[in-house]
Amino acid sequence: MNILVTGGLGYIGSHTCVKLIEAGYTPIIIDNLYNSKKSVLKRIEKITGQLPLFYYGDIQDKPFLDTIFKKHSISSVIHFAGLKAVGESVTKPLEYYENNVYGSICLAQVMRDNQVNNIIFSSSATVYGEKNATPYIETMQTGNVTNPYGWSKYMVEQIYVDLHTSQPTWSISLLRYFNPVGAHPSGLMGEDPQGIPNNLMPYIAQVAIGKREKLSVYGNDYPTKDGTGVRDYIHVEDLAKGHVAALNNINQSGVHIYNLGAGIGNSVLEVLAAYEKACHKKLPYQIVNRRAGDIAAFWADASKAQRELNWQTECSLDDMAKDSWNWQITNPNGYPDE
Ligand code: NAD
Ligand code: UFG
Repeated sequence: MNILVTGGLGYIGSHTCVKLIEAGYTPIIIDNLYNSKKSVLKRIEKITGQLPLFYYGDIQDKPFLDTIFKKHSISSVIHFAGLKAVGESVTKPLEYYENNVYGSICLAQVMRDNQVNNIIFSSSATVYGEKNATPYIETMQTGNVTNPYGWSKYMVEQIYVDLHTSQPTWSISLLRYFNPVGAHPSGLMGEDPQGIPNNLMPYIAQVAIGKREKLSVYGNDYPTKDGTGVRDYIHVEDLAKGHVAALNNINQSGVHIYNLGAGIGNSVLEVLAAYEKACHKKLPYQIVNRRAGDIAAFWADASKAQRELNWQTECSLDDMAKDSWNWQITNPNGYPDE
């Protein structure tokens, strides 16, 4: 069964392609290589023994998308393609809305024109905004988002809900990821941030490998267990399996919303301690001011995915740190250019 995977060479998409192949699906990847490298394909082949079909192109290019839907019989789409840097979205809102919102509209239009009505969309816990109490539950009202990236996810969710209302045969899964970290246990695939990492674990990884001097901990005066920010970290392997679970359920039309998280919160200092354990050394850090827009603590109520998809996380924070470090040490400069 052919599954079109937009953004399939990116961090979460590549891990999901491996899980799709292992589950017997055939991923067909579209990516514009804005934040990924073509050499990811060879890594997928090395792990699975199969080289996925890859089309270089942009989801905003409707004629390009149309040729792919005409050429292949596609049963469902998993839509990862998007820009994801929260801080950058504040300085480049138009680029974020164009790529994430307009791109998602183009994709859905071409799907509709080709009678493909099953889509799984990469949403984010950020849609819960800053007013909801934690843990976040799917039935909570979304909104009050603090940045254009988050609003773009909120808007696409709404657009896809409206699409389903207009044509109830659609099956739309909105997967709200919490904080994906870690890497494939083989060390062949992982997160490959360009420039200074925005997110906690990739930053710690670069401190551990000696590329950055020390971690800046953004505040230790939050009302949390040790004063530092608390998040729900989820191993990218577990997250990838969540997509296969959602795909196995895709034949029911409707809008299906799931939190994909571990259901527990860990603080910045706990993540740092897990990483120190993984790399067997003490890692330098300093406490600095809070980062603008950060929320003190949130984690998922992930019971709906467990109940309805029979999915739950299996990896611990120690597994996440161990696999991240294994990837970092074996690929200190990330993926090769070719
Ligand atoms: P990523 O940047 O590693 O992967 C996204 C991929 O999409 C990249 O390979 C990029 O080149 C491609 N892409 C971007 N715009 C495109 C376009 N217009 N046409 C074709 N390809 C395009 O990011 P990721 O961490 O794998 O995230 C995947 C999805 O999950 C994104 O939509 C992201 O917003 C969402 N998400 C990520 C996180 C996270 O912390 N990583 C959390 C919540 C949600
Ligand atoms: N942090 C530091 N130092 C750093 C980086 C992060 O102390 O150098 C702290 C943050 O203040 C926060 C925690 O580590 O308390 C996690 O921060 P991340 O930047 O790793 O993750 P966020 O929760 O801020 O954001 C992530 C994704 C967003 C997504 C959000 C909710 O980057 O795309 O999770 O899913 F919207």
